Amino acid sequence: MPDILLSVRHLTHCFRLSKKQVLRAVDDVSFNINRGEIFGLVGESGSGKSTIARCVMNILRPAQGEIFFNGVNICSAAERRANRRMLQTQRQIIFQDSASSLNQRMTAADIIAEPMKINHITPPRGSCRAEAEFQLHYVGMDASYLDKYPPELSGGMRQRVAIARALSMEPELLVADEPVASLDVSIQAQIINLFKHLQEEHGFTFLFIAHDLSVVRYLCDRAAVLYHGKIVETAPTQELFSDPRHPYTKALLSAIPIPDPRRERSRPLLQFDGTGVQGAGRLEEVSAGHLVWKEAGT
Ligand SMILES: Nc1ncnc2c1ncn2[C@@H]1O[C@H](COP(=O)(O)OP(=O)(O)O)[C@@H](O)[C@H]1O
Ligand SMILES: [Mg+2]
Repeated sequence: MPDILLSVRHLTHCFRLSKKQVLRAVDDVSFNINRGEIFGLVGESGSGKSTIARCVMNILRPAQGEIFFNGVNICSAAERRANRRMLQTQRQIIFQDSASSLNQRMTAADIIAEPMKINHITPPRGSCRAEAEFQLHYVGMDASYLDKYPPELSGGMRQRVAIARALSMEPELLVADEPVASLDVSIQAQIINLFKHLQEEHGFTFLFIAHDLSVVRYLCDRAAVLYHGKIVETAPTQELFSDPRHPYTKALLSAIPIPDPRRERSRPLLQFDGTGVQGAGRLEEVSAGHLVWKEAGT
């Protein structure tokens, strides 16, 4: 039996755009995340990824559905109250844009120690500064960065500080909402490797949100593909890539950049129109519900 840390059940969230218009940003979404795994949530911009993350973090209140974290129904006010401390420490979120999510007027040391102060946690290593130094080391930075302000740091370093801050609570679950999308490619790889290390060596669990499938392929154990607020496919990552079931997953896969320039040029570009894949080829159903993409001429 897998040990489920987060269970999202039939989650729906709507935004009221005007008196008459309601946008169903998340529509009947269900998935489980097992303890110790990296679960990917992938979909294009506007597909509802951040809305799900915000519901999981209790930043937004879902219109319908339930979310269980560590067995606690976080959509119930009474259960939230009874488990306030656990919920505040055991779930942490890392945003895409650490430049705007970090207080520009605080040093790295103060930024990292702030959640401990807010939650009245006695620093396990004696002082807040010692704790901040420990966490900085943990994410690959040395003590010389303790007194630096966010504008003095590179994008990758800022993101490491944001991660160190999240880790200071020793959370079980890290929700990472497109944490590398605004970084240079070489820096992206470093941060992704850091996440992998945190999972493999320290057993953290991740809800990892991305619009980039190649990152998901490398990092995630399982992933769900989101399209217009609905999950169209959930599978172990290997399977998702070797045997994508849903036409939209196939369309997403076709958009992965392929490093070899010759292959890149001959690669068919597919577009998903909501019903099937458009491009040089056709979808064939080889068995019930199992679609295979056949390129033109095959
Ligand atoms: N506060 C809001 N008010 C109205 N619409 C919103 C709000 N936040 C997000 N949306 C809309 O909900 C949909 C999903 O948004 P979001 O969850 O941010 O998607 P993603 O993170 O996948 O890019 C989008 O169409 C977006 O425009
Ligand atoms: Mg988003």
